[in-house]
Amino acid sequence: MTRHFLDVADLHADELDQVLAEAENTAPRRVLAGQGAALLFEKPSLRTRNSMEMAVVQLGGHPVSVVGDEVGIDTRETAEDIARVLSRYHGVIAARVFEHTKLERMASVATVPVVNMLSDDAHPCQTLADLLTLRQRFGDLKGRSIAYVGDGNNVCASLMVGAAMQQMDVRVATPPGYAPRPSSVERAQEWGEVLVTEHPLAAVSGADVVYTDVWASMGQEQEADARRGVFAGFTVDDRLMGAAAPDAVFLHCLPAHRGEEVSTSVLESAQSLVWQQAENRLHAQRGLLSWLLSGEEQQ
Ligand code: CP
Ligand code: NVA
Repeated sequence: MTRHFLDVADLHADELDQVLAEAENTAPRRVLAGQGAALLFEKPSLRTRNSMEMAVVQLGGHPVSVVGDEVGIDTRETAEDIARVLSRYHGVIAARVFEHTKLERMASVATVPVVNMLSDDAHPCQTLADLLTLRQRFGDLKGRSIAYVGDGNNVCASLMVGAAMQQMDVRVATPPGYAPRPSSVERAQEWGEVLVTEHPLAAVSGADVVYTDVWASMGQEQEADARRGVFAGFTVDDRLMGAAAPDAVFLHCLPAHRGEEVSTSVLESAQSLVWQQAENRLHAQRGLLSWLLSGEEQQ
């Protein structure tokens, strides 16, 4: 059976450990030798595109990125037809889309792994890099606490589940109306404690990790002004970081909007691991692809 990675919960907890261990392998087998990787982007990307292309190269493959209008999922042809055709050229298909269902439809017919490079609902490749970064800092994450402050959408949804699978204590603070979907919270709660609150200080108090993301995601640019009002008080600044554990670290998936979701002082502080976190996108995705494609070979 072809394995896909549309969200973190597609992995069992022990499989998540295997992927994170493989991410530390800087000399993996060249599982994509002589093969291509189709990378589709309906939205802009800096980190994901560059890190995924280089992960493919490091595994011996050739990345083919298709961006913007040229992707044409459900406008030029259906998601299913695209996946059927690309399966015949490539060893893996990865896509950044608006509607998560497009990924599910591609995976339903693809004969090679389909990987989510961000949808409106989830950003699981980001979570792999986040967990890798935290394991590099703290070792075993069991019992550590992570506080996400901001919009409870894609990055938050995947992070909650991944952190809970690592047996972390998860806290999420969002303004009213921006909480993560109940289905995401329930999935994370299958693994452990999840606190959802409207009070950033309550989430951050004593936390080992403080995490935030932009207030207006890609596709929500026209809401940016209104959201600045809604999210006032949710900036991760020195006051908020001061309420976390003394050795707490700060994470941000990037891109960052200094003065909005994070202050310049926090982003540039010694507590900030954001550049290591960004580098880990490459290692995490190389580990993921290596794990997914090694599994293919064993079948
Ligand atoms: N964090 C992240 O996914 O960045 P890009 O949007 O630049 O890929
Ligand atoms: N929530 C953000 C994440 C960017 C990596 C967005 O969807 O634009």
